[in-house]
Amino acid sequence: MSINAAYDAQDVKSIMREERWNQRHARAYDRYRWLSSRQRWRDLLSRELADVAVGAELFEVGSGTGFITEILVSCGYRVQGIDLSPAMLARASRNLAAAGCMNRVRLSVGDAEALDAPSGQVEAVVSRWLLWTLPQPRRALAEMVRILAPGGVLVCIDGQFQEMGAFARWRSALVDMVLTGRLPDWRSPAYSQIKGALPCLDGPAIANSLQQLGLVDLSFRWLPAKDTDGKVKNWLMGSAWNSYLVSGRKPK
Ligand SMILES: C[S@@+](CC[C@H](N)C(=O)[O-])C[C@H]1O[C@@H](n2cnc3c(N)ncnc32)[C@H](O)[C@@H]1O
Repeated sequence: MSINAAYDAQDVKSIMREERWNQRHARAYDRYRWLSSRQRWRDLLSRELADVAVGAELFEVGSGTGFITEILVSCGYRVQGIDLSPAMLARASRNLAAAGCMNRVRLSVGDAEALDAPSGQVEAVVSRWLLWTLPQPRRALAEMVRILAPGGVLVCIDGQFQEMGAFARWRSALVDMVLTGRLPDWRSPAYSQIKGALPCLDGPAIANSLQQLGLVDLSFRWLPAKDTDGKVKNWLMGSAWNSYLVSGRKPK
């Protein structure tokens, strides 16, 4: 699939891995967990996964630095997490080891758009804030549905950016500098070119794709700040990101 004249999907993924999800960004990304509410995310996920037996091994796609992985373990699940970025996975291993979770987690490098997992085996697939980063998000959704067992549950949390005013942009750059202890990295020419080419599907489009892929009991809803990281984090980050949740179930 051609993303634009200059890059195809593999180029986009390499650029994202090298320029967006590299060691520097992994460190910065991880520090945002200081502003995150573990309890709110735990409440949200345990509600969404209420029908999935405790002890089951869930599949987390784009597991990042392990924030959601750790919460899933605290809910009683085992987790197989995959991520494109070795730098993000290295952070995840460190965080999960510090939290004493590694005996319930398997992490590996992998591509959401071509999952290295057998079909029809997992009780639940979870992803948070992954789909907007992908050149071919529909391919990733098809992969998630493929690996679900009959009756299995898919929970995708994603979001959409909204335009930030100048004041909000500076505020979020300042927060980034304080959290990371570095100047913002505005020098990433290739990433700047491709980021406008990412499809960034909206919630209804994701729900629509999942319906076409045969999922049932589909639901889509916006997540208010009070159910996620709270208004303070949103304000500090420039209030530019609105999360939503799409879920569904594979028929038995
Ligand atoms: C915004 S971060 C979200 C991380 C984590 N899910 C969380 O909620 O904290 C996006 C993650 O998706 C990963 N990612 C990007 N493209 C991917 C792909 N094609 N396959 C797997 N992971 C990918 C990135 O490396 C990064 O860790």
